Amino acid sequence: MQTKRAYIDGICPESELIQEAANWLRRGELVAFPTETVYGLGANALDALACAKIFAAKGRPQDNPLIVHVCSRAMADTLVDVWTAEAELCVQHFWPGPLTLILKKRSVIPDVVTAGLPYLALRMPSHPVALRLIEETGLPIAAPSANKSGKPSPTRGSHVWRDMRGKIPLILDAGACPVGVESTVLDLSGDVPMILRPGGVSRERLEDLLGEVRVDTPKENQVPKAPGMKYRHYAPQGEMIVLVGPPERIVQRIDQEIKRGHSRLKKVGILCTLESAPFLHPLLPDLLFVLGSKDRPEEVAGSLFEGLRLCDERGMDLILAEGIEETGLGAAVMNRLLKAAGQRIEYI
Ligand code: TXA
Ligand code: MG
Repeated sequence: MQTKRAYIDGICPESELIQEAANWLRRGELVAFPTETVYGLGANALDALACAKIFAAKGRPQDNPLIVHVCSRAMADTLVDVWTAEAELCVQHFWPGPLTLILKKRSVIPDVVTAGLPYLALRMPSHPVALRLIEETGLPIAAPSANKSGKPSPTRGSHVWRDMRGKIPLILDAGACPVGVESTVLDLSGDVPMILRPGGVSRERLEDLLGEVRVDTPKENQVPKAPGMKYRHYAPQGEMIVLVGPPERIVQRIDQEIKRGHSRLKKVGILCTLESAPFLHPLLPDLLFVLGSKDRPEEVAGSLFEGLRLCDERGMDLILAEGIEETGLGAAVMNRLLKAAGQRIEYI
């Protein structure tokens, strides 16, 4: 299949392009589009055959359900009949935005979307292109991140082009996604609200609104409540280690690893904070990617997937990533870094 990559204005999207994309979606085809978190791979959520194409294009396991995107509360009401008081509060405060709610679904949603679960993951994105596209199509849009399954989520049109070229008819490219990590997935079905996946809305912000919020942290042999969380995600090709500790120790440890790596002819890449970069640069790693300031986790979130993808593009055999504090968006950042590293972390 020939793929068209169309550049679209991220603030005032050109209506011809929105119409072209909506036509593909209405005809049961897939379109990749930007959201404020990451690019999504969209299909008509009411069309089981169209949604099945998503799994094929991504190579996604069938047991991993999709998030459905809406552009209005009225559209959300066609998919869900019971809204608890907590769900209402979340909608009022965080929609449109990077918060996905797990809600009891209506039967219009085909089983393929929820992988047979009685619950639906629902969100209203805030990116103008995503909102305009859903409005124009007039349909709820099922969309996982537009990467090949197992690869880092795409935060730029170029990432989608690399992963989806030849598999879908159209990519709407509006440049970089402002948040850079996926939405927070929040389950409100239990006594205490539970974060199934940390993301663009922090636990602290949710707790300000809802009181106590827990994070689903399944042990080794338990199954996470968000099926997607069990897969090793965001995995670069090289081996990866996350390092946490005082900056001097991190620099020392990285120096050691670079020397060892180079003596074995391995290419060593570093993902680090702005603060450590001046000390790491002289160690001559094969790649030094600055994620952002350790005091601004939202900056680190914005460049994280770009950094991971770059390590692959440049063929890094070993990737050493500096951890950051798990407050605010730092929790989502550390969750993605640890997944990328297959949970390999060293406290030094
Ligand atoms: O920011 C985002 O959420 C992006 C953009 C495109 O909206 N989408 C995204 O979708 O990250 P995806 O498919 O890559 O991740 C969805 C996560 C998976 O971990 C999945 O298992 C979980 O949400 N999920 C979906 N439906 C669920 C359900 N009914 N119950 C529990 N978890 C669910
Ligand atoms: Mg994904």
